[in-house]
Amino acid sequence: MKIQFTETVLRDANQSLIATRMPFAAFEPILETMDGAGYYSAECWGGATFDSCLRYLNEDPWVRLRKMKKKLPNTKLQMLLRGQNLLGYKHYPDDVVRKFIQYSVGNGIDIIRIFDALNDLRNIQIAVEETKKRGAHASGAICYTTSPVHTLAKYQALAKEMEAMGVDSICIKDMAGIMGPQEAYDLVKAVKETVSLPVVVHTHSTTGFAFMTYLKAVEAGADVIDTAISSFSGGTSQPATETLAYALQQMGFSHSMNLKALKEINDFFQPLRDEYLSNGLLDPKVLATNTDALIYQVPGGMLSNLIAQLKAQNATQRLDEVLQEIPSVRKDLGYPPLVTPMSQMVGVQAVTNVLLGKRYQSIGKEVKSYVRGEYGKPPAPIDSDLQKKILGDEQPFTGRFADTLAPEFEPAKASLGAIARCEEDVLSYIAFPKIAEKFFQYRQKQEENQCSYTIMKIEE
Ligand code: CO
Repeated sequence: MKIQFTETVLRDANQSLIATRMPFAAFEPILETMDGAGYYSAECWGGATFDSCLRYLNEDPWVRLRKMKKKLPNTKLQMLLRGQNLLGYKHYPDDVVRKFIQYSVGNGIDIIRIFDALNDLRNIQIAVEETKKRGAHASGAICYTTSPVHTLAKYQALAKEMEAMGVDSICIKDMAGIMGPQEAYDLVKAVKETVSLPVVVHTHSTTGFAFMTYLKAVEAGADVIDTAISSFSGGTSQPATETLAYALQQMGFSHSMNLKALKEINDFFQPLRDEYLSNGLLDPKVLATNTDALIYQVPGGMLSNLIAQLKAQNATQRLDEVLQEIPSVRKDLGYPPLVTPMSQMVGVQAVTNVLLGKRYQSIGKEVKSYVRGEYGKPPAPIDSDLQKKILGDEQPFTGRFADTLAPEFEPAKASLGAIARCEEDVLSYIAFPKIAEKFFQYRQKQEENQCSYTIMKIEE
């Protein structure tokens, strides 16, 4: 049986280890080698890359995408999309979702991995439909978590529903690295028995499970695994591409990875890793195996966010308390999987609960919207006291929230006028208004100074 590899160094590894601060210029020289390495796909866009490009790197994310496409003409470019949330933290109206996908595919994306943080499939429906319409591969991602309501049967039902929706593959997305080898085996097998689509498995090395998890997943019939080139692997990132290629080969699986190219790619990224380690962007903490996540279910990105948040408030010594508060907040909120935007919501609320010394004394705006039903259906009922505290006697909204939103694209385009040079600019603006505006000003200034875009050095 043949196992295929998705390389995550450009997106998830970059996001999980160094908060997506790798500028395009840093990895540009290796893209042609990556193109010949035999990957199934290169995950390179979406997630936090879009935000980070505009906010920290002074890069136009759309330009980055086009440049990557040019250098990786034979590799499928893959992006991660949060369904109706796109790359942000709130719901967008359908016209914006459709435009965003149209331009993502138009600028070079081949595979869109689409998920909803609550696995509420009403929130991925439009994105899946538009991806198919634009001729790209729609991968339906199921967020993996554990709770009394997340049973094998529940996951099977989700896969079945996604298949009926027309997805081209099913991805089991274990953002926290909490899926053990046996769980992976049982789940992949169950999904394979339910649908006749390729199954992709995505996990993180956070807890140390990942290599074992992938081995059992491929034994159960997984078709594609997500890995990171070894110098950017491990810890909160994915397990190493090379190691898995060697191991699977020994076990009699075939793959199309070119081991010589992988060595070259790793030799390229090794000095970058050293540089990020020495300038502090890469914190050795996130490279360690952290079995706490088996209890707290905290994904890598969330853990580094929490550390940063506590650092900013001079309260890093309270990390353990926050980690203990997270499962309680999650339970109160009906066991949402800890993935963006739920991970941020739960994380911020847990920090607030701990630092204020009283639970829910202050409740985040997003948590309130969530409890009002604006993010979708919670996997389990929300704690009734908390619900009452937020809603009073009101009932939560149970429809598809995007149905309540007026079209946003044309109005935004009209209000931006000449500031937006193309429809992609309008989308950047809708996604991150303030940051995009700042970027447009920066771009203008750069051009007035007759320079081409420069990559600003990140200092923090
Ligand atoms: Co991930």
